[in-house]
Amino acid sequence: MNAPRRPTLSAPSQLVLRRLAALQNQRLLVVNYPDDYFLLRLRSDQPNAKITAFGHDYATYAHVREHLCSAGYPTDDLVFGPVQPPAGRPYDVALIFLPKSRPLLEMTLAMAVPLLPAGATVYLVGENKAGIRSSRTQLEQWVGPAKQLETGRHCVLFLAHLQRAPAPFELEAWLSHFWIKTDHLDLAVVSLPGVFSYGRVDDGTRLLLETLDPPPGERVLDFGCGAGVIGAALLKRWPHLHIDLADVSALALEATRRTMIANGLAPVQVLASDIFSNVHGVYDQIVANPPFHTGVETDYGLVTAFVQGAKQHLRPGGTLRIVVQRFLKIQPLIEAHVGPCRVVIQDRQYAVYEGINRKK
Ligand SMILES: C[S@@+](CC[C@H](N)C(=O)[O-])C[C@H]1O[C@@H](n2cnc3c(N)ncnc32)[C@H](O)[C@@H]1O
Repeated sequence: MNAPRRPTLSAPSQLVLRRLAALQNQRLLVVNYPDDYFLLRLRSDQPNAKITAFGHDYATYAHVREHLCSAGYPTDDLVFGPVQPPAGRPYDVALIFLPKSRPLLEMTLAMAVPLLPAGATVYLVGENKAGIRSSRTQLEQWVGPAKQLETGRHCVLFLAHLQRAPAPFELEAWLSHFWIKTDHLDLAVVSLPGVFSYGRVDDGTRLLLETLDPPPGERVLDFGCGAGVIGAALLKRWPHLHIDLADVSALALEATRRTMIANGLAPVQVLASDIFSNVHGVYDQIVANPPFHTGVETDYGLVTAFVQGAKQHLRPGGTLRIVVQRFLKIQPLIEAHVGPCRVVIQDRQYAVYEGINRKK
C-alpha cells in the first residue's frame, strides 16, 4: 500500500477542527472524507459523536482505515462507495468536503441532503483554489441560505440549514450516456459526475482505441478504467478476452459496470484498487490511460508507481500498452521497469507506447 498522501491535516480539516465543539454529541455524516488524520482527530476529540464517514476514493479509504485501526478505533462506520452514503441511519448534521468538480458537488448534495431531516445543519468546506467560494450557490440551491462560518488557510467553511425535504436521490438522473463510433467500434458509454472525462471520450483514450490490436493472450487488465471505455472496447471487438478492470474511484467502477451492461458485455472482475493494491492477477496485457491526478492535484508519482508495479502483473512477453501526453518522457520509465518499448502512434498531443515484459 502507498504511504498516506496527506499524512497530517489538510487545510480544510484544520478549519473544521477549529469549530469542533459544534459537532459534539451529533449524529454526523461526513461526506468525501479527506486523506489525512481528520477522522482520527474527530474520533478522539468527540467520543460521543456518532460518525458515519462516506467517500468514493479507495486509496483514501484504505489509508484512513489503517490510521483508525492502528489507533484501536472501529472502522465499521467508515464507508467506501458504492455510490450513495448509507441511508436508513439518522443524521443531524452533514459535513461535506468539497469534491473535485462542480457536477460532482451537485450530485453529492443531491445524494446527501435527502438523508437529513428538515432543519438539519449542513457544513461545506473547501479550498479557495478548488472553488469553494463559488460553490455557495449550489449549497444554497440544495440546502438553504448559507453563511460563511470560518475562513483561513485559504479555505472557507460554510453553514446552511435544510429548508425543506428534497426529492429522494435517483442515480439514473445523473448518468450521462454517449456513443463512440469509429470504423471498428460502436460503443455505448455510461458515465457519472466525478468520473474521468465525464460525458465525452478523452482525446488520448480515442487515440489508444484507434490503434487497438488483438492483445497477445486472453487475460487483460484495464487499469484506471474510468467509465470502462477501453476494456469495453476490447471486449466488444474480441469477445473471447477475459478482462479485469480496476480503478480507485467507486463512481468509476459503477460507471464501468453500467457501460458493460449497456453493451451486453460481461467483464471478469471490476476491482477497487489503489494502483495494484487489490490486483492479484497476472495478465497478457495491461492497457491504460494512466492517472496523473490525485483529486485536483497533479501527481506524477501515480504513473511511476503504476509502471514500476506493472511487471509483476505481466507474464513474460506480456505487454503494457498506455497512452500519455507526448511531453511526458515515459519511454525510459517503461524500459527501466518493464522492457523494450516502442511508440505505437502519436499525434500532436498524445503518444501510445507499448512495452514488452522482457523474459527473465
Ligand atoms: C486518465 S483516467 C482514464 C480513464 C479511462 N481509462 C479512460 O480512458 O477514459 C485515469 C483513471 O485512473 C484512476 N485512478 C486515479 N488514481 C488511481 C489509483 N491510485 N489507482 C487506480 N486508479 C486510479 C482515475 O479514477 C481515472 O479513472
